[in-house]
Amino acid sequence: MTLSDIDVRSDQAARGHSSVTEWVAEVAKVTQPDSVVWIDGSRAEQDALIKGMVTAGTLLQINPDHRPYSFVARSHPDDVARVESRTFICSTDEADAGPTNNWVDPGAMRATLEPLFAGSMRGRTMYVAPFSMGPIGSPLARIGVQITDSPYVVVSTGVMTRMGAAALAEIRPDTEWVRCVHSVGAPIAPGEADVPWPCNDVKYISHFPETREIWSFGSAYGGNAILAKKAFALRIASVVARDEGWLAEHMLLIKVTNPAGRAFHVAAAFPSACGKTNFAMLQPTIPGWAVETIGDDIAWLAPDADGRLRAINPEAGFFGVAPGTGPTTNKAALDALWGNTIFTNVAVRDDGDVWWEGLTDRAPDHLIDWTGQDWTPASGRPAAHPNSRFTVGAAQAPTISDDWDDPRGVVIDAIIFGGRRSAGVPLVAEARDWEHGVLMGAMVSSERTAAAEGTIGELRRDPFAMLPFCGYNMADYWTHWLDVGRTLKKFAEPPKIFQVNWFRKDADGRFLWPGFGDNARVLAWILDRVDGRAAAVESPVGWLPAPDALDLAGLDLDDAALEQLFEIDPASW
Ligand code: OXD
Ligand code: MN
Repeated sequence: MTLSDIDVRSDQAARGHSSVTEWVAEVAKVTQPDSVVWIDGSRAEQDALIKGMVTAGTLLQINPDHRPYSFVARSHPDDVARVESRTFICSTDEADAGPTNNWVDPGAMRATLEPLFAGSMRGRTMYVAPFSMGPIGSPLARIGVQITDSPYVVVSTGVMTRMGAAALAEIRPDTEWVRCVHSVGAPIAPGEADVPWPCNDVKYISHFPETREIWSFGSAYGGNAILAKKAFALRIASVVARDEGWLAEHMLLIKVTNPAGRAFHVAAAFPSACGKTNFAMLQPTIPGWAVETIGDDIAWLAPDADGRLRAINPEAGFFGVAPGTGPTTNKAALDALWGNTIFTNVAVRDDGDVWWEGLTDRAPDHLIDWTGQDWTPASGRPAAHPNSRFTVGAAQAPTISDDWDDPRGVVIDAIIFGGRRSAGVPLVAEARDWEHGVLMGAMVSSERTAAAEGTIGELRRDPFAMLPFCGYNMADYWTHWLDVGRTLKKFAEPPKIFQVNWFRKDADGRFLWPGFGDNARVLAWILDRVDGRAAAVESPVGWLPAPDALDLAGLDLDDAALEQLFEIDPASW
């Protein structure tokens, strides 16, 4: 028996169900940490973790006069984004992973991972972080426990989920919970000094959907390491949702109130880096409309007893892309970052505040860039990494809705699919029915950005914006969406489905649509359609706004641009 076994077992009674303790002991036996710490979610615990990271050089404190209790982390330059090529779905049957996932036989993957995890936490602390996805006690919430040797991941999980003792207490003998094991893969030999961002060149983000397990090795960045987010809340949850008749989706959630005071709830799927956080915090430019935020990335949707589609945001924070977040693009997000924020891979100003491209029109004369080097506007490289991030509690958004953490969830009135398409796809179209909407979702595609590896600008098919996140066969996933539609139709008409594209360009490569707050004009047409008040004309790709149905008052948009925004070229389709 190792020291870890003894520590793990000593206080078992206070630590939830024995299944957790037994699993922790098993993982400790393999990974051989110096000590095991159970995370209770308290402020004192968070303070101690942060203090330790500041001492270790992992975190740099931002000048508190600018942003109290806020920090900057600089990752290893090779650990800056999700690595889809190293993300695996290990179902027993290859067909269950389907053609869009990297499949490895579960036995073969366990055999590969075993030597990597053996002793991988030597010289480090192993943290046990129980968390709830969704408000604790909500019928839609699910529990996970993440083991990790990264304090940065613990603190980030504390922002992104409801983490700590209350989540652990939700695990009873019959509770199904998700086992998440994470190691940065950088053991420290006796006498060896640690580095600020330990990680490993070898990376595996492995999912075992049948046993509801995630094993992640080698990265400490975002979705690779904060396993509650993409790995659990999408890849594993999509499988659970298929088995149980609900939907785990890469969707933001908003509450929209029209000038008559009617409130709607909208779920919207966009591929990575299409401005989901901006849309979730949209400040309408048209009078009388208000948008409030419920979630910016993930939604879990389930038919309720009355056949309505109810949704929760399973997360508790935002892990948003910093570059491009500015006073005109997303003032609400900027306001949310007033303090209590962890920034990763942004630049630091001489006065100790943060900076990234798009924060101000003019860059400061001097910065320390995301790699820790001196930077000036003449450096010819970005000061912040294009995928640099902020991690902040959802409740800090000034636009947060009063029902954002309602355990019952909110009733969905409309579903939107979007993508970044410079040509071909109209500004907005309404599906003829649920089945046509499923086809629209299946056809989502987007031009690549920096959120994941790949050639920027290249068009990638990204059905339902779930290509990197669907934990099973994409064709079965489409079937599942059709099945959910059938369930909803037994009661009433399911929510209307729409497709949008803010990113269409003219022949000179200029965006035709202003986007941002003006996207409320499209949202207004969508919700007027739900209300049965807006006119539409049929087209080969669905219903489009009738002439004059879209509120364009005060917008500098000529007829030719408007025509181009809705042009449909049958040959290209
Ligand atoms: C994200 C992503 O980080 O979709 O949310 O890549
Ligand atoms: Mn996302």
